[in-house]
Amino acid sequence: MEINIVKGTHDVFDDEARGFDYIEMVLKAVADLYSFNQIRTPIIEHTELFTRSVGESSDIVRKEMYTFLDKGDRSITLRPELTAGVMRSIVLNKLYATKDLPIKNYYVGPCFRYERPQAGRYRQFNQFGVESVGVTSPFQDLEVIMLGYDALRYLGFKKVNLVINSLGDKESRENYREALKNYFAAHIDEMCSDCKERFNINPLRILDCKVPSDHELALNAPKMRDYLTPSAKARFELITKTLDDYGIPYEIDDSLVRGLDYYSHIIFEFHYQTESGVDVGAIGAGGHYDSLLSEVGGPELSGVGIAFGIERLYAVMKEDNLLKDTEVKTDIYVMPIGEKAIEHAFSLAQVLRANAYRVEVCLENKSFKQLFKRAEHVNAQLALIIGDNEIANNEVVIKDLHTQKQVNLPLDNLLSTLDMMFNTEEEKHHGHCDHEHHECSCHHEE
Ligand code: HAM
Repeated sequence: MEINIVKGTHDVFDDEARGFDYIEMVLKAVADLYSFNQIRTPIIEHTELFTRSVGESSDIVRKEMYTFLDKGDRSITLRPELTAGVMRSIVLNKLYATKDLPIKNYYVGPCFRYERPQAGRYRQFNQFGVESVGVTSPFQDLEVIMLGYDALRYLGFKKVNLVINSLGDKESRENYREALKNYFAAHIDEMCSDCKERFNINPLRILDCKVPSDHELALNAPKMRDYLTPSAKARFELITKTLDDYGIPYEIDDSLVRGLDYYSHIIFEFHYQTESGVDVGAIGAGGHYDSLLSEVGGPELSGVGIAFGIERLYAVMKEDNLLKDTEVKTDIYVMPIGEKAIEHAFSLAQVLRANAYRVEVCLENKSFKQLFKRAEHVNAQLALIIGDNEIANNEVVIKDLHTQKQVNLPLDNLLSTLDMMFNTEEEKHHGHCDHEHHECSCHHEE
């Protein structure tokens, strides 16, 4: 019986797996430039962590969590995002007391949301993110936005759309909440059942409703920017001015509220449309938070973070050919000719690997046609062919699979010859490497 994959999940292999590796490598390198350190938190957490942080009014908590009772009757949830787990870890490990502030972490790993699967939307997906906790300065917010912007540039994006808004401080939000309640109260009968509930729990959420008539209503709702306290307004203006000074383009979107309850002040999303018009939604998003750490039992420390969706980055990068660096080449394919040569090929492959070559070896008796087909499949640059004659003469045939030239070589000269060939290749490549960024990892000719 064939067993189907769980709806909304996907297997990642070959090109896609290499693409994910590449994306994560670049994102880690950028997080490292900004002096963030890695944190790994569990995939399962107590459900309460998310109800308290992501929030009771969010769609994530209301509808999308994978929650179950474990064998000890505890309510456990597969994490829908990683920010909450990082906060829990900071609190439980008392990192706020033992470490100098800010506490700067980056993370990568799977998240789970029971959403309706569609392009760029999975039930299991991967995020890469950073969180900086313990600095109130708006420059800390700017640093995280710039990290996100740099990360996308290092990944090869030429134009991204940064959308921002401010949710202000607590006082701004309370005033705004009142204004929204007054406005929506007159329309409550026309609203969808979800929005009727949102009206009571958190009217801000109505602004995010996808139901067309509610969306229409939201367009004429009061605007957050008119309810910001003077200090919240000044903070937001400092951020926009600095973005201007650094030439980082952005758009202020009054309707941006973000789907998680923990934000205050600046919130932001990075969007991208491929050359052919494909848009998978936000490729990365985040914001500032003031009470998140205290909400999960820690001290009152502010923080800011961003998370990218790896699947979404991969989808648009693939579409616009930004993943060309991930093509993998096998340095050498070792081909035994005849049963007897297999053992020799096996041991030769081990020697080559010990000398840092990426090697594929055939361990069965195959025809020339099959062997060359495989060499092509693994994108090999050189073939080493060993048959009875070569064994008898302590030789090997070395064949350049691009030029098709081949020579017989005494085994004793093999390593020095390979060294010469591959070092020349590397110089040749790096001589004209046109990758702007320092983490260019290509070893061979493109
Ligand atoms: P989020 O906007 O819910 O924010 O998710 C961040 C990113 O994860 C999105 O921009 C998107 O690229 C990706 N993503 C979300 N849901 C899916 C899905 N169902 N399938 C594929 N990709 C998805 C957060 O999770 C916050 N924790 C971000 C943050 C960090 N805020 C402060 N610090």
